[in-house]
Amino acid sequence: MTSRQIPSSWRKFPIEQQPDYPDQEHLRNVESKLSALPPLVFAQEIRDLKQNLADVGSGNGFLLQGGDCAESFAEFSANKIRDTFKVLLQMAIVLTFAGRRPVTKIARMAGQFAKPRSSDFEEINGVTLPSFRGDIINGAAADPDSRMPDPERMLQAYHQSTSTLNLLRAFAQGGLADLHQVHRWNLDFVDASPSKQRYLKMSRRIEDALAFMEVCGITSQNAPMLRETQLFTSHEALLLNYEEALSRIDSFTGKCYNCSAHFVWIGERTRQLDHAHIEFFRQIENPVGVKIGAATRADDLLRLIDALNPANEAGRLTLITRMGADSLPAVLPSLIRAVRTEGRNVVWSSDPMHGNTVKASSGFKTRQFDDILRELQQFFAVHEAEGTYPGGIHLEMTGEHVTECTGGAYKISDADLGTRYLTSCDPRLNADQVLELAYLIADAFKHARSEPDQ
Ligand code: PEP
Ligand code: CO
Repeated sequence: MTSRQIPSSWRKFPIEQQPDYPDQEHLRNVESKLSALPPLVFAQEIRDLKQNLADVGSGNGFLLQGGDCAESFAEFSANKIRDTFKVLLQMAIVLTFAGRRPVTKIARMAGQFAKPRSSDFEEINGVTLPSFRGDIINGAAADPDSRMPDPERMLQAYHQSTSTLNLLRAFAQGGLADLHQVHRWNLDFVDASPSKQRYLKMSRRIEDALAFMEVCGITSQNAPMLRETQLFTSHEALLLNYEEALSRIDSFTGKCYNCSAHFVWIGERTRQLDHAHIEFFRQIENPVGVKIGAATRADDLLRLIDALNPANEAGRLTLITRMGADSLPAVLPSLIRAVRTEGRNVVWSSDPMHGNTVKASSGFKTRQFDDILRELQQFFAVHEAEGTYPGGIHLEMTGEHVTECTGGAYKISDADLGTRYLTSCDPRLNADQVLELAYLIADAFKHARSEPDQ
């Protein structure tokens, strides 16, 4: 055993994007309840993910991270979890089969509740209210009571995360992820899309391959990897009271793990070097991510890497670039060169969502599929030109039938946005748009190997 403590030193540092809880005693009370509750994930799983990410960093695998912008208390159901899980599986199988890459899957689920906001206050119908910061902090309804931060919400977020994770584990191991089910991962509404035909063709080829393997004696019964998968969880570790309360000292290694998720990241708005989030992240063993926007300078990035991964451990740090399609080609090359020259081990992942958010003429916040695609293509092209490995993607997506991002095979227009605009925060890709992206990425991998499309 060890005398190491759960890290609380972040409390002495300046901090951005936190709620102002009116009752500090209530807050302390909830924090101590949370620290006594069981961890959501285990240290060994976290170490396994770090090993997977080390492999990704050396070019042997691909990271697929995706899910809601923000989970919500109201929109919480088994079907919703199942459908997002299916979309992740579907994208992963396309990248594995057509792209020939083992895929590490990390969901933005089971804890993705806290949101950074551009302003502390917002005006709704002429009334100024504290901004909505995510269901773990306050309520979205436009009245002062709902907007008051309430620590009790951390407990609700914890319990919702445990049942989400319980279901995800059941889906991953209980048959839904069996490769014999590939055709069932397609969601009904993905119907008229050209990607659907391609997907169904691919599932028939997988079924053929499985039938052949079965004749050779390899079945779901004797080869568990055919019927099970591993899905890791992640969220932006923004609300440090919650993150500290769910951190645990691992009895095996004596080290501190944040057991609220396998992977946590720091957002673009809270990654100041001398601030609380970096201080907290330095003390946990998890693989971590940091979002990198278009204003990032190479020297700042190197300092950030030094702070978060001083031992240059493989798999520890994922740089998630979110620069916007227009800025990426001018900004990313010099960052890649700085990291490569200094010999730093990182996974480069692309978030093509957060740098491409626009306001549609209808008033909805949206993202154009073409901008998302363009940022991704440029991310791959820049890495190819620099001789580095584009290791992953980070998407806001859902299995729900939504119209939140414009474009894609169904050509969702500004006027269509209102039809099914359900997000509690940023606009997400729907299953159809995700499948289309998956094929575009798989084809890019194949062209890099000069093989024909399938
Ligand atoms: C997010 O991932 O939901 C987010 C807020 O991202 P960023 O920190 O890149 O703005
Ligand atoms: Co978002």
